[in-house]
Amino acid sequence: MRIGVIGGSGPAGSSLAARLASVGYESVIGSRSKYRAMEKRDKLVDRFPELQDRLGFGDNSAAAACDVVVVATPWDSAATIAQDHEAALRDKIVVSMANALIRVGSEFQPLVPPRGSVAAHVQAAVPESRVVAAFHHLPATELGHIGEPIDSDVLICGDDRDAVATVIDIASRIPGCRPLDSGQLSNAMAIEAFTAVMLQLNVRYKTRVAPKVSGIRDVVADQSLDGSGIKADPVAVDAEA
Ligand SMILES: NC(=O)c1ccc[n+]([C@@H]2O[C@H](COP(=O)([O-])OP(=O)(O)OC[C@H]3O[C@@H](n4cnc5c(N)ncnc54)[C@H](OP(=O)(O)O)[C@@H]3O)[C@@H](O)[C@H]2O)c1
Repeated sequence: MRIGVIGGSGPAGSSLAARLASVGYESVIGSRSKYRAMEKRDKLVDRFPELQDRLGFGDNSAAAACDVVVVATPWDSAATIAQDHEAALRDKIVVSMANALIRVGSEFQPLVPPRGSVAAHVQAAVPESRVVAAFHHLPATELGHIGEPIDSDVLICGDDRDAVATVIDIASRIPGCRPLDSGQLSNAMAIEAFTAVMLQLNVRYKTRVAPKVSGIRDVVADQSLDGSGIKADPVAVDAEA
């Protein structure tokens, strides 16, 4: 599977592309300028020569031509750039990792983008693609430390269950990550907005936090497409119902 990253020249996209290459995927760093993508790719290969054969570069069209495509631009350009590549993205899984936030002084504030979340806005821009929201809370720095595990849950949501299962599988290959099926794409609103809280915690505690949800046992091994393989605690599920 080839995974392309639109906006892959930034810290988040390039770290994700490198990380995915490090776990066996062929990944392509995309950019509006293929030279910028090449520069980023070369820097990463200088640092991690083992990525040489699996980490590629190109313009955003090259990234959009891959089997699975991640949109890793700033939030306010994610839907537009996806729409620019609508034909190439048709029928494909498109992963939205953008968070709509502003920083006001030392305070991070979530913004409400059109349709409630960046992911929903991207889905509206590419209606024939299968948009999945994921990777919002993984700090680029830790993602880029390939070879080191990232101790984090990855909250993943989307309306196409097969697409969610595929992204769960991709995330599960990153050492230390526990992907969690977090429901339909409507939940992207909460996942994206929560990033403001995470960043606020970073400032307050002078660290880089990552989310870990307690109370879910043994889910990673078998998150089958219909969810039947998810071994949630039946008591907790009943209580919630
Ligand atoms: N940084 C993190 O730790 C982190 C973690 C998780 C999620 N995220 C999310 O991931 C996304 C990317 O984060 P980042 O820090 O890598 O962002 P970034 O550096 O600000 O932007 C990433 C890339 O997007 C492209 N870009 C910028 N403006 C654009 C526009 N108007 N139209 C099209 N492309 C544009 C640029 O690539 P070219 O100029 O080369 O085209 C840039 O290198 C953000 O939405 C962020 O919320 C970030």
